[in-house]
Amino acid sequence: MNNDQLKADNAQYLWHPMAHPGAMKKSTPDIIAKGEGCWIWDVDGHKMLDGVGGLWACNLGHSNKPVRDAIVAQMDELPFYNVFRGTTHVRAIELSKRLVQMMQPEDVATVMFSNGGSDAVEGALKVARQYWKLKGQADRFKFISLRQGYHGVHFGGMSVNGNTNFRRAYEPLLPGCFHIDTPWAYHNPYTEDPIRLGEICAELLEREIVFQGPDTVAAFIAEPVQGAGGVIVPPPNYWPLVRQICDKYGVLLIADEVVTGFGRTGELFGTRLWGQGGVRADMWCLAKGISSGYIPLGATAMNHRIADVFDADTTGTASVSHGYTYSAHPIAAAAALATLDQIEALDIPGHAARVGAHLQNRLRKLVETCSFVGDVRGVGLMLGIEMVSDKAKRTPMTRTSDIPARVAKAAYKAGLMVRISGPNLILSPPLIITREEIDFMCDVLEGAFAAVQEGRA
Ligand SMILES: Cc1ncc(COP(=O)(O)O)c(C=O)c1O
Repeated sequence: MNNDQLKADNAQYLWHPMAHPGAMKKSTPDIIAKGEGCWIWDVDGHKMLDGVGGLWACNLGHSNKPVRDAIVAQMDELPFYNVFRGTTHVRAIELSKRLVQMMQPEDVATVMFSNGGSDAVEGALKVARQYWKLKGQADRFKFISLRQGYHGVHFGGMSVNGNTNFRRAYEPLLPGCFHIDTPWAYHNPYTEDPIRLGEICAELLEREIVFQGPDTVAAFIAEPVQGAGGVIVPPPNYWPLVRQICDKYGVLLIADEVVTGFGRTGELFGTRLWGQGGVRADMWCLAKGISSGYIPLGATAMNHRIADVFDADTTGTASVSHGYTYSAHPIAAAAALATLDQIEALDIPGHAARVGAHLQNRLRKLVETCSFVGDVRGVGLMLGIEMVSDKAKRTPMTRTSDIPARVAKAAYKAGLMVRISGPNLILSPPLIITREEIDFMCDVLEGAFAAVQEGRA
């Protein structure tokens, strides 16, 4: 099939997530045909560094042989079996043990598998409600979450999402979901002092819990570093304070680590960035990097506080009425085991921390050199560049501005794939990226921003 036909067929037959079908018909999405290491090729043979990492997912790059071999071997051994009550399989057992061992510092006791991040969130929200019913506190059904947070697209996750655009078309959503301000240094009405901001935003959580009635709040859910909302890194005191407040009122803490898990931030888990030796949540939502994105897989990890209550139940009400045909799919589990082996053997988090620091240092200079870059923020190998129409007032560019798309196009032409989300350019390259590849990425971006500023692109 020729490339023009492919583009026409895409426009005619395929709806894309988070996109207007009409817009996709008018402007064909980039068709990616091949991947190797940190590099991808489009269908026209144009080679690019993958600054998107698939979608925060291909942490080991696009041609990892051990993951590929594990998938092929599993295909030969057992392509599929389920783990519903009464059956299980070897890879599911191995992977659950492996994850629980990896998460010993988190006090994780058990995991439940699914097919991706939205599923992992849905599982956590459902387990939170069931936990409180088992504890005899059925009134505790409410969820509190952050504005700008992203927790996937199922009805539960959508209800706790903090971006109105993802909710409006599908309302009414789950009752009992409430949103509070994100501790966002660049955009907040409170203070320029990050530590004070952490305190104020933690107080907002406490006030919301008290306002709702602590005996009605099931859980607070948040990302250790917000990803899709624009790579928003909270002040260092925020998560420790959140944990204290949750403890004070008995509220469960759910860490959505779909993006931050498995090394992206420079720590194995994003919660390990915060406090002395990490903040312990009660549940973790995991996906993406768990299988390096090669096969869909999600996991919800629970600590002993939760698992013990389910284990102790003798009435039968602790039966987990949740799960998918493909929960713990053997091929996904095999891919994840091979991925986790390499995350540990190659010290992927340590590498991400080292090369990530170089990336952050280089691109932060764009705030000084580019007239429409308002903020560059991030940690490890996740970075957001916010484009503004008024630097002094910190006014984010609106969706009507063509500048973000022009920057992305200039980068694409020069050999770098980036992602635009509203006014933000987001980078989340594979975690195996080298310092030289990071320099290439920064060179291209500096050139793209300069070209747009000077009207050359
Ligand atoms: C923090 C977070 N949670 C949940 C999800 C949903 O994951 P999925 O798209 O695999 O359903 C995402 C996706 O980007 C995410 O970033």
